[in-house]
Amino acid sequence: MTERRYVESHSDVLRHPHEQMLKLVAKGFYKELINYGVKEPEILTVAGHLLDNVSLKSNPNRITVDTYNTLFSVKDIHNDWNEKRELSISSISITPLGTNDFGQIGKWTNSPEARRYFYPHFPDTPSGLEQYFQSDDREYFRINSDGKFVGIIGADQVDNQSKKLEMRKLVGASEQRGKGIGKRAIFLFLYYAYLIKNFEKVFLHSLDINLRNLSLNGKFGFYLEGVFFEDITIDGERHDLVRMVLSRSVWQELFA
Ligand SMILES: CC(C)(COP(=O)(O)OP(=O)(O)OC[C@H]1O[C@@H](n2cnc3c(N)ncnc32)[C@H](O)[C@@H]1OP(=O)(O)O)[C@@H](O)C(=O)NCCC(=O)NCCS
Repeated sequence: MTERRYVESHSDVLRHPHEQMLKLVAKGFYKELINYGVKEPEILTVAGHLLDNVSLKSNPNRITVDTYNTLFSVKDIHNDWNEKRELSISSISITPLGTNDFGQIGKWTNSPEARRYFYPHFPDTPSGLEQYFQSDDREYFRINSDGKFVGIIGADQVDNQSKKLEMRKLVGASEQRGKGIGKRAIFLFLYYAYLIKNFEKVFLHSLDINLRNLSLNGKFGFYLEGVFFEDITIDGERHDLVRMVLSRSVWQELFA
């Protein structure tokens, strides 16, 4: 990539973050279609079907972004933080990590799939993980579903001065994904970050190809803050890294 193209793209991102987000989603969607075996000439057919959906379902004069505030609000959260360090919503809870959790976490974070989504990778030994999670600038939680340990969510790069942190999350076993666990855990974690920890800003990094994650974050009100162009190498190919952000005021406006 030439320096000029980088500068143009970068100022575009600053001027039109939502348009850039849509471009990234389209790029990720294109790659997914090719991965699913759709041939290049068939992409136009798919685009036609997408347009059919638009003309059937939407009013072109209204632009709306779906958010999860129709699904839950802060009053749905059981706050047992002071009594037993637990926040819960329906059958999902988050609680601090325990020293016995690192073996299970290692099995999840060492899977090829998790290694594909997290940059930098998590350490690959239980002792490395223990050291990692106990660092002062991190605060991670177990995600429990009906009391069963199913994943982790937490804060990296905790900056107490600027009151900002990076959120990372993983629903460990692939058969547990897509059941509504991730979005509830994120909601609990954001409650913790804004209303218990009193932080101002939560940001996250996502790969341009991780469409599910981009869409999920958008439904909490996260929006594009910037793109690190061709920042990461996966299987010999360079990928953009997307940074999304959510401020406390936006979150409160949506969910309080
Ligand atoms: C991203 C992740 C945490 C989401 O957790 P989850 O429990 O699977 O997500 P949920 O079941 O709460 O669903 C969230 C949304 O994703 C959608 N979704 C679920 N499975 C999907 C799939 N296979 N493809 C596309 N969207 C999907 C759901 O429909 C839901 O959207 P909706 O609320 O509009 O219906 C989890 O899938 C995961 O750990 N993935 C691998 C690691 C990762 O990508 N981490 C993020 C890097 S920071």
